[in-house]
Amino acid sequence: MTKKYIIGNLKMYGSISFYDTFFKKIREFSMHKSLDNIEIALCIPYPYLYLAQQILGNSGIYWGSQNVAKDNEGPFTGEVSAKMLKEFDSQFAIIGHSERNTAYCESDVNIAEKFLRIKEHNMRPIFCVGETLIEREAGMEKKVVQSQLETLVNHGKHIFNNSIIAYEPIWAIGSDMSASPEQAKSMCAFIKEFVEGEADKVNQLGKENKPIKVIYGGSVNEKNTLQLLSLDKVDGALIGRCSLSPDKFLQICEIAHQL
Ligand code: 13P
Repeated sequence: MTKKYIIGNLKMYGSISFYDTFFKKIREFSMHKSLDNIEIALCIPYPYLYLAQQILGNSGIYWGSQNVAKDNEGPFTGEVSAKMLKEFDSQFAIIGHSERNTAYCESDVNIAEKFLRIKEHNMRPIFCVGETLIEREAGMEKKVVQSQLETLVNHGKHIFNNSIIAYEPIWAIGSDMSASPEQAKSMCAFIKEFVEGEADKVNQLGKENKPIKVIYGGSVNEKNTLQLLSLDKVDGALIGRCSLSPDKFLQICEIAHQL
C-alpha cells in the first residue's frame, strides 16, 4: 500500500499551550485510527521539539524541524545541528523552503550540505522546490525545478534514497491560489521521473531503493485535499496555514485516511 504523507509546516507560529493542545489532539487521533495508509508529521519550531517528543513519542505520529545547520558542530551562533534534532527523536527536517531562501539567501550548496547532514543522522529531508509566478508564466517551471534538483544529484551516492521532495510553487504559498490538479500532477510526475531516471544513472537511489516521495504544498486546505491527494503522482501534502488549526489539519488527515 502506498502511504499518503500529511506534513504540517507550522512556520514561526504557536506557543507552549498551542502545541500542548495540538499534540494531545493528534495523539488522540492516532489512537483511534489505523495509520497504515497515512504518515503524519509536524515540522515545528525548535523550542517545541521536546514537548513533541514527550507527547507524541510512540504514537505513530512524527515530528521534526523546518531547517538544520549545514555543519555538525562549531562556532555557528544561532544554528541547530542534525545531531541535536535527533536527540529529540526528530524524524523529518524541511530544507530549501522558499521563505528561507528569500529571507536568508540560502545557496544551493548550503541546501545540499543540509540535505546530507539530515540523512547522516537517519532523518528524512523534505526538500522544497518550486518556481515563481514569472517563471511559470514564461513556461520555465520544469527548467527551474530541474536545476534545483540537479544541485543535489551530484552530492554523493544514494542521496535521494528515502527522501521527500515537496513541489511548492512559490506563487501558491500563502496565496489562496493552489496549483490546479493538472499542474500539481504534471510537476510531481516530472520530479519523480527526473529523480528516478537521471539520478539512477549515477546510482543515487541505492540498491535498497526506497523510492522518493513527491508531495505538493501551497494553499492546501480541507476543501482541495481530496482532489489533490487523489492524483496518483502526488504522494501527500505539505500544509502551512491549515496546520495552524488542529481541527482543519485533522480533517485533512481524515480525508487522506479515507482515500
Ligand atoms: P500555505 O499552506 O499556507 O500556502 O503554506 C504552504 C507552505 O509553505 C508549506 O511549506
